Amino acid sequence: MPIPSAQEKSSPPTILVFDSGVGGFTVFREIKAARPDARYIYIADDAFFPYGLQPEDRLVARVIAVIGQAIQDYTPDLIVIACNTASVIALAALRARFAIPFVGTVPAIKPACAQSQTKRIAVLGTLATVSREYTHALIREFASGCDVVLVGSPRLAGFAEAQLAGTPASDADIAAEIAPCFVDKDGRRTDTVVLACTHYPLLTERFRSVAPWAVDWLDPAPAIARRVVHLLHDRPAAATPPPKPLIVFTSGRTPPDGGALAPFGF
Ligand code: DGL
Repeated sequence: MPIPSAQEKSSPPTILVFDSGVGGFTVFREIKAARPDARYIYIADDAFFPYGLQPEDRLVARVIAVIGQAIQDYTPDLIVIACNTASVIALAALRARFAIPFVGTVPAIKPACAQSQTKRIAVLGTLATVSREYTHALIREFASGCDVVLVGSPRLAGFAEAQLAGTPASDADIAAEIAPCFVDKDGRRTDTVVLACTHYPLLTERFRSVAPWAVDWLDPAPAIARRVVHLLHDRPAAATPPPKPLIVFTSGRTPPDGGALAPFGF
């Protein structure tokens, strides 16, 4: 990618937000609130959903192809991979391939262990995210003195998509997926659950209502938005309002109607 000229640097940035579906809406919401002046493109690779059940090599090739095309089509200044599964599997390959700043989304294990009073946390993600070496390395590096249970869910991302489409899963189905997060052992209970899939904050209220006890549900979106703001600090706010964010579904389906999108700032 060319280095932006002084002229380009004085214009508001174009930010591309990417996920396998609507999970990245929860990250988009925070970024847009922090940089409302930017031009936004949201790409949902729903033709390949769910990422959490894809083999690693296919997923890396797919993400590189979709992002490569998006760079050609939209010339973004920064790309947010608003997907834990894609980040832990493909972020290194993306950075090696494209000379454009990427902000990834990786399980918030460090802050969760730092804030936990009981020193017992759970990491709730897709099967792919919890089984990846990237996640295991985060635990080795940042979880010392804290017990971590990894919980991979094959179904929750689909439940989140369904929730937003107006067909919510049952309480019993949701309770069954989150149940392994709740460990009560040696007089210490789980007190923090890392939401290690961007789809899951769409279900936080559902989680709270079926959880066996109260815990903190840690959403990484505010930290991601802070990182984006930091990386774009030299790009001034625009005087004129930005264009409406563009949403692209790789399946070709039309985005949800305005009512469903409004809470996310689209
Ligand atoms: N939103 C994605 C994540 O953060 C995953 C959902 C999927 O399996 O596609 O991991």
